[in-house]
Amino acid sequence: MRERKNVYKLPASDKTLEWYGKAVIAMKNKPTTDPRSWNYQAAIHGIDPGSPFWKGAAPFPGRREQQDFWNGCQHQSWFFLPWHRMYLAFFEQIVAQTIVDLGGPADWSLPYWDYSDTSSAKFRTIPPAFTSPANATNGLWIKGRVNTTIAPQYVTLEALNTIPYTSGNGRTAVIGFGGPETAFNHFGSMNGRLEDKPHNYVHGYIDGAMGDPNTAALDPIFWLHHCNIDRLWQVWLNQGRRANPVKSSWQDFKFAFNDKNASRVEMKCSEVEDTRKVLSGYTYQGVPAAVAALEGLESFIEPDQSKPLEVVAAINKNLALSSKKTVVQLKLTPSHNKIESLEALNSFNESVSEPKTAILHFENIKGKGVPPIHDVYINVPKGGKNKESYYAGSINFFGLEGASKANLHHAGSGQHHALDISELMNKLRSQPNWNDQELDISLEPIRKMGSDASVKIGRISLYSE
Ligand code: C2O
Repeated sequence: MRERKNVYKLPASDKTLEWYGKAVIAMKNKPTTDPRSWNYQAAIHGIDPGSPFWKGAAPFPGRREQQDFWNGCQHQSWFFLPWHRMYLAFFEQIVAQTIVDLGGPADWSLPYWDYSDTSSAKFRTIPPAFTSPANATNGLWIKGRVNTTIAPQYVTLEALNTIPYTSGNGRTAVIGFGGPETAFNHFGSMNGRLEDKPHNYVHGYIDGAMGDPNTAALDPIFWLHHCNIDRLWQVWLNQGRRANPVKSSWQDFKFAFNDKNASRVEMKCSEVEDTRKVLSGYTYQGVPAAVAALEGLESFIEPDQSKPLEVVAAINKNLALSSKKTVVQLKLTPSHNKIESLEALNSFNESVSEPKTAILHFENIKGKGVPPIHDVYINVPKGGKNKESYYAGSINFFGLEGASKANLHHAGSGQHHALDISELMNKLRSQPNWNDQELDISLEPIRKMGSDASVKIGRISLYSE
């Protein structure tokens, strides 16, 4: 049984990262046709042979093999968590074997990077071994990372408070922890809560190879990031009142990988629910033991669809984002809604002592390249004082290009992001600039739009109870 440890809590004398770096170099020296090579492992997630990150990677395995094993990552799907768990387990097995072949220890395991640890800002920084020395002698370094320290708002863990695993598929209040029910889904539209944050933000903020699913796994930090996401799945589950999907369309769904002997192995989602039974088994250092399952668990498993939300305002036009701030007015549209004033949304739900649900949707987002994360603010007063109190959340574009193209698995209708602004709406109405007929939405990029990137939002809408 392996123990996956916190990379920042490894003792000073520990050799985990040193061996990881050596293994990466050894794997890079294997041809891309070898399933145990660095390139092959990264291509399982996704490959864009035209990208500079993939320069020199050819020759590739045959078409059939590529179809079977490459470009398989599951995103915006309830398979996001189990697929990446399997991916990580085979990768860890292959790296560990590579280390043994190099004369290293037999018990290597993948460490995790807990960037959400708020006890020190240093934990939000990529561990120094990955950034220095910054040259090819360091197996853990890669060219082109834009940021090495993640901003704190992108790694908060609201996701863990989510009870249902599966997102509702209508426009209900439910955005699940693990994503919407889908078939095989390389890229889709709507993220589960954990996939959205911190997962996508860590990709988009580090950027470079990490910003694009077709290059992300070439960056050695990718694997410590995913190890942490995999750990957070366990942390979520162990809190009690939470459960993985029980439907056989999840439990029995299979994915195929190559193991350390380059033999094809199939795994079902149900086989990775218990980390101690995945391949040779592993646990996470510091994850609290599971709370005993409560009675009536079933009621937490499927989202409550009984209270669908209704659209109260919408703009349907292709809004192109740029390197500058974009501002739009979202006006109440009497033609398709029942309320006459946004005030109605703010009435308090006395029965549950919570504000009424208000969800801001950004839909049919399509584009190219890797546009920057955009922060979303509502009704920021002129002059922009205290901007943080008007912060509604952010939208990120990890996997945008894939979600914009129609293919075998989906229609290419673009990404869909939803921000829960229930609490914020309640604060906004006491502000002097409150207008009960419209909201001022501003979208601010965190850096410039690259010359090869573009993004348009097809529709912005507000849904409420
Ligand atoms: Cu499949 Cu972090 O991505």
